[in-house]
Amino acid sequence: MRITILKDESAFNLAVAWKIVEQILAKPNALIGLATGRTTGGIHKAVADICRSYPFDVSSVRFYGVDEIVMVPETFSGSCANMIRRELTDPLGISDNLVMPPTLADDYDRAGLAFAAQLDSLGGADLQILGIGPDGHVGMNLPGAPFGSETRFTKLSGELEERIRKSAPEYPKDAPLGGITLGIRTIMRMPKLILAAKGAAKAEIVERAVRGPVTENLPASVLQLHPCVEVMLDADAASGLR
Ligand code: GLP
Repeated sequence: MRITILKDESAFNLAVAWKIVEQILAKPNALIGLATGRTTGGIHKAVADICRSYPFDVSSVRFYGVDEIVMVPETFSGSCANMIRRELTDPLGISDNLVMPPTLADDYDRAGLAFAAQLDSLGGADLQILGIGPDGHVGMNLPGAPFGSETRFTKLSGELEERIRKSAPEYPKDAPLGGITLGIRTIMRMPKLILAAKGAAKAEIVERAVRGPVTENLPASVLQLHPCVEVMLDADAASGLR
């Protein structure tokens, strides 16, 4: 496990953004998995800024999200697809190259399988960016998610659901929400992973994920077993590392 510590938030955004750009330069039609949330917004903006400053061909790169909120209309402002479009693929002019599961479906288990099959048919991911939740979740693999899990429909946790609802206050409080997420085994099969975390609030969980026991109770801890994972942190998120 390689750990890279950047001095502040802007260095962190740029360093992770350059990893994405390097992947595109190395393989122009790469398939790159993104994560959404507070950690990755600045990274996505930095990728768009780099592409504006150093124009190169991004027309054949494909992006997808590690997870998506479902049981809501496409227009739901908190959906991962909307965030990725807003932050990255619209500015790059390549939103047609974004692959996401549908937010509404008759059968969400089947929609999850179809999403997995679509990613496989595109050749599988070359690089996956991951964030970490305050309880150590990755994607929507919450504590207790089996290490053998594959892409699937999942329920949300209280904390995660509350956060999502806050980000899209227009959505009725009593309407149910679910998720489709890549599974732990799906992620562990990928050739290259980056776990990105910033801010002091992540310091303790980062320490436990990278140095603590590997356990299904802390999903991100499984990444210790991946042969090619880089943990990229700003100084605050790294402040708990022993
Ligand atoms: C959500 C997303 C994850 C993300 C995590 C961390 O659960 N589904 O993909 O990595 O939160 O989010 P944040 O960066 O906002 O802390």
